[in-house]
Amino acid sequence: MTERPSELLPFPDGTVEGPAGISIGGVPLTTLARDFGTPLYVYDASTLRRRAGSIVSAVSAAPSGGRAAFALKSLSTLAVLRLLHEEGMGADCASAGEIAAAVRAGFAGASLVIHGNAKSDADLQAAIAADAGLVVVDGRDEAVRLGALCRAAGRVQDVLVRIAPGIGVDTHRHIATGHHGSKFGVTPAEGASLLHDLPAGLRGRGLHIHLGSQVLEPAPLVAAARWLPAFARDEGIPLEVLDVGGGLGIRYTPSQADPDPGQHTSNLVTAIAEACSDAGLAVPEIIVEPGRSISGPAGVTLYTVIGLKTVGDGSTWVAIDGGMGDNLRVGLYGAIYAPVLAARPTMAPIGRFRIAGRHCESTDVIADGVDLPAPAVGDVMAVPATGAYHQTMAHSYNLFGRPAAVLVEAGTARLITRRETLDELFARDL
Ligand SMILES: Cc1ncc(COP(=O)(O)O)c(C=O)c1O
Repeated sequence: MTERPSELLPFPDGTVEGPAGISIGGVPLTTLARDFGTPLYVYDASTLRRRAGSIVSAVSAAPSGGRAAFALKSLSTLAVLRLLHEEGMGADCASAGEIAAAVRAGFAGASLVIHGNAKSDADLQAAIAADAGLVVVDGRDEAVRLGALCRAAGRVQDVLVRIAPGIGVDTHRHIATGHHGSKFGVTPAEGASLLHDLPAGLRGRGLHIHLGSQVLEPAPLVAAARWLPAFARDEGIPLEVLDVGGGLGIRYTPSQADPDPGQHTSNLVTAIAEACSDAGLAVPEIIVEPGRSISGPAGVTLYTVIGLKTVGDGSTWVAIDGGMGDNLRVGLYGAIYAPVLAARPTMAPIGRFRIAGRHCESTDVIADGVDLPAPAVGDVMAVPATGAYHQTMAHSYNLFGRPAAVLVEAGTARLITRRETLDELFARDL
């Protein structure tokens, strides 16, 4: 066995190349494809644990304590949630469904942080029923509805107010959320006014920001965190809790940056503590909401090559048995991936190929211009860095059914999501 060469950098920790090709968590990917079928989501437990653990310990070291709430939107498979719960994480939930997932996975209500820019009454009621620790209010109308529901339930709910501070980050415009004009949160002035004048039934504890996702250059995330204490002091609003969201990016291709999530969390904690000292404020409880930086690098998607053809312009398509049904990010953001052949990932390429998904959309292309060693029908293709916003965004366009998922650890693989059956596809149709 050789240690992971540079071509395999976006693959999870502990990935090795041996005689059977790539192994993750001690299990060859070709064995997983044979035993569980494709398309298949594979999650590496040790990568999940290491990344979650480093964030939890960095935020817990904050002077007044802190916690990490895992963003379920990035990955909400129950077995993964149970594992992250064991690592000491809380849960960031953006719907009644995500609240149900967190509760089923064992998260206590107090560890839930509830999000959403358009929470329905059902979402808010689910938060109340789960005894959620914090609801992050996204606007005045929502505060009015939540206040009424809490009074009816005889409860006082702790809330944060989400503000869009007008700080831009270098990411795709479809995943930037903290700029002026964002649909998320309110202006800083409106946030301060809301915290001064919350409806009865709500107790304002502080502020929330989340500037965007897949941020590879994290300086603006730290700068925004540094700005908040003086803002709270100047506006005379409570800052017992400060939630600075998630957003740290990950490496999707070998040449991309790979920021360290534990170090980034430490940098946030230090910046907030310094800013509080400068502002003459006590350091609040700090919450971070990582999603992608935990789940993304832990996941790999496996496909089987279905066919090859060279077309009119001379390019060669390699068609696989999955696509936009299991990976929506290419269509949504033009995301770029670095697929390899699982059995011979580092063999010298013979040419450049286009990887076609099987859905009836011309945009269903998982990667374009990939150098591969003689792909053939039946080969297993592995796409790394697909742990975040893949399984949670999967859909059943063309009625293919959603993929299965396995968790690998210490040489064993456990099925954690069954493949969707035809009966399940039609279960809701009357
Ligand atoms: C409020 C909030 N918190 C946390 C996250 C997680 O972000 P990421 O997966 O980039 O860490 C998101 C993602 O959009 C979010 O909207």
